Amino acid sequence: MKVLAVASRKGGSSKTTICVHLAGLADEEGGCVILDADPQASASVWYELRQDERPFVVPVGVDNLRKVLATIKGDGFAYSMVDCPPHNEASISEAMRAADLIAVPIRPSLFDLRAAEATFSMARALKRPAVAVLTGVPPPMTGGEASIVREARAYLEAIDAEVCTATIGQRAAFSHALLSGSNAVEYEPGGKAAREAAALWRELKDRMQ
Ligand SMILES: Nc1ncnc2c1ncn2[C@@H]1O[C@H](COP(=O)(O)OP(=O)(O)OP(=O)(O)O)[C@@H](O)[C@H]1O
Ligand SMILES: [Mg+2]
Repeated sequence: MKVLAVASRKGGSSKTTICVHLAGLADEEGGCVILDADPQASASVWYELRQDERPFVVPVGVDNLRKVLATIKGDGFAYSMVDCPPHNEASISEAMRAADLIAVPIRPSLFDLRAAEATFSMARALKRPAVAVLTGVPPPMTGGEASIVREARAYLEAIDAEVCTATIGQRAAFSHALLSGSNAVEYEPGGKAAREAAALWRELKDRMQ
């Protein structure tokens, strides 16, 4: 079973958004469980609203993460995604240790980029592979990505952080879907948000092979 930790020391960077919109895609490819490691329990709140029992969302704490991961693996799930809290260092580091890949969602702004450095330092100290995912990005301009996205890529390259080609745009569909316990693919099949979620999942999955 591959473990994707979605982690960032910055609050509101789209960690839970990435987990809930990608987990349905991962679930169709061998099963996926979201491990909700955040005491705010955002993923669990989404799960309460959900009509479907899959993908499963299971609350975890720092002391039982390993045990729950072993159980899920034994149950034959191909993937798990750990939705990390923003400010609990012990919890983030436990999730990072268990991860095959750490996805670090980052909004393209100075403060978010600065905070990302702390997350990458943690991943490096633990010798775990991490990749940045640019989230809440503005629409592309003629001729390519918005300038703030290009600047964010340059910033991250300068600190030796790998960055996913796929990005998550600032799109109403990502937040509307949550209110009905659904994900972007279910909310608007074939829509831009659905296509972005699928492209990001493909890239993260490939990086975990
Ligand atoms: N790409 C996006 N487009 C539109 N809204 C978004 C997007 N990403 C996140 N949001 C909204 O921004 C808010 C914060 O997102 P989210 O809860 O996913 O961040 P988080 O990193 O999990 O936050 P926390 O650190 O508090 O756990 C939510 O209201 C969410 O719906
Ligand atoms: Mg969250």
